Amino acid sequence: MESPFKGDILKGKVGLLTGGGSGIGFEIAAELGKHGASIAIMGRRKHVLDSAVSALQSLGIHAIGVEGDVRNKEDAARVIETTIKQFGKLDILVNSAAGNFLVPSEDLSPNGFRTVIDIDAVGTFTMCHEALKYLKKGGVIINISATLHYTASWYQIHVSAAKAAVDSLTRSLALEWGTDYGIRVNGIAPGPIDDTAGVTKLLPEDVRRQKQEASALYRMGKKWDIAMAALYLASNAGNYVNGTTLVVDGGIWLSKPRD
Ligand code: HXC
Repeated sequence: MESPFKGDILKGKVGLLTGGGSGIGFEIAAELGKHGASIAIMGRRKHVLDSAVSALQSLGIHAIGVEGDVRNKEDAARVIETTIKQFGKLDILVNSAAGNFLVPSEDLSPNGFRTVIDIDAVGTFTMCHEALKYLKKGGVIINISATLHYTASWYQIHVSAAKAAVDSLTRSLALEWGTDYGIRVNGIAPGPIDDTAGVTKLLPEDVRRQKQEASALYRMGKKWDIAMAALYLASNAGNYVNGTTLVVDGGIWLSKPRD
């Protein structure tokens, strides 16, 4: 779909996206790039990064891929330094790396719980913390969250706890870093989005159908919908928005599927 934003709204900006090699992270990377930003993507799998970088470059976007795991502080620092070395600065940090699997709480080990907290919550904090000195010149942070924890979700105790922590980080950093440095920190909470690991791995077909029927907008979301929200928050359009997590789900979280 065509973007409603002008093509140069992020001209001269530099964006770094964790989990930017696939899914929602990649789509955000592509749209930030199409609107003028240079892009660095971080991920654990080299072959995924390589093909994502080729795809971005074929769109005419200045893009690099840097391998790393957000759970590792040294990786976080190295990826940020590489971004600075390549592009000279950092304006937009998007934390979209996430871990997930469906498991009943009874069968989830404490280490399984910790693993997802480490990726989603600690990883987000680590990236923000390592990037702070560069973002002080007027940066923007966007944390990708979810709506699972607004109520309760089956077999997602670990992810719900992790995303609740992410939303809390968003508010705390927005308060401290917004006040001290003018850094805007916001989140996006996607609903079920077509063609993403979150949906194919976590939402069986019958549940997907129920969600579709329960949606105020009667459709699954597109990765594009999330990328447009990210553009709004990353650009001057979102200049006065700080500390919020924007729900982009067609209103699905408001209601449970009808019987
Ligand atoms: C139960 C599991 C498990 C599973 C891992 N564990 N998979 N427990 N069921 N399916 C447990 C392991 O037993 C182990 O605990 C611990 O977790 C660590 O497992 P590892 O395999 O060693 O971890 P690692 O290789 O680091 O991989 C972590 C990972 C990750 C979380 C499994 O690789 C992953 O899931 N990647 C997928 C990324 C993904 O799908 N992203 C999309 C997110 S979608 P023990 O005790 O045995 O040591 C999203 C949207 C949410 O976030 C909203 C949807 C609507």
